[in-house]
Amino acid sequence: GIPGSELGSSCKSSIRHIIGCTHSIPIDSRLGLLCPGFRVAVISRDGNRLEKLKNFISPSTKDNLYTLVGDVGTEEGAETAKNNLLKSVGKVTDIVSSLGFSWWQGGPPHTQPLKELHRVLETLVLSTFTSWKAFFPLVKDSPSGTYTFITGGAGERLLMPGTGFLTLGAAATLAFCQVVREEYPEVPCKLNEVKVNTGVATPDRMGPGYINHLDLGEAVASLVEKRNSSHKVFSVNTPADLKTVILEGKA
Ligand SMILES: NC(=O)c1ccc[n+]([C@@H]2O[C@H](COP(=O)([O-])OP(=O)(O)OC[C@H]3O[C@@H](n4cnc5c(N)ncnc54)[C@H](OP(=O)(O)O)[C@@H]3O)[C@@H](O)[C@H]2O)c1
Repeated sequence: GIPGSELGSSCKSSIRHIIGCTHSIPIDSRLGLLCPGFRVAVISRDGNRLEKLKNFISPSTKDNLYTLVGDVGTEEGAETAKNNLLKSVGKVTDIVSSLGFSWWQGGPPHTQPLKELHRVLETLVLSTFTSWKAFFPLVKDSPSGTYTFITGGAGERLLMPGTGFLTLGAAATLAFCQVVREEYPEVPCKLNEVKVNTGVATPDRMGPGYINHLDLGEAVASLVEKRNSSHKVFSVNTPADLKTVILEGKA
């Protein structure tokens, strides 16, 4: 069972494009967007990860997955990735942007070189910008298009000692999403953010305060599929909040 398969056939001709997929939350949760007749394209810089992803998917849904090796962290890289995507899949209706790290705990600021701050900002926020710049034009003028950012609550507070650069990068990403909402208040596409304020894990690694990555995938899939809300931030603090995301999507 690929999660999200209950989304069924109403999404037949859509291409869901997921930027950033193959690590911790990603694998299954983003596959929650897969359902019969629902095609998903995933970009990663690492071909091996994409191969693993293909092997992970059930054979019956394999044909719905396109994988592309690409680096969306520069303007040129993101443009190339976009052109390759369009060449291989044609029209794209929905973008889910979930770039960054699952975790960074390199130490308090005085122990860190500037180079590391650059790397963290590149991974969390600069790639979110460069990919958005390339991919947003594909969906922004369409009432049936969606662009969804996945962000993290690390941007609002220091999660633990030594996680400060994660906070800086995540905070910049929160601000970027806000800027996009405010600079483009009238776009016909549905522009949303799912801000995850809790850990995300596979069922075998769940601890207190974690949410199941499959449940997150299902909630995001529902939001994308229903296209009811726009310019909203859905904060996820507990598993119950995922139901709210699903319900908002369905409302
Ligand atoms: N994991 C959690 O517990 C958690 C909790 C709350 C919020 N979040 C939020 O979820 C978002 C994603 O985090 P995550 O946990 O999914 O991180 P992750 O597992 O490290 O995945 C991040 C993805 O971003 C991709 N990526 C980064 N830079 C890229 C680039 N230049 N070109 C192409 N792909 C690039 C990576 O692809 P490659 O394969 O190329 O490396 C990877 O697939 C973040 O905003 C984070 O704040 C995560």
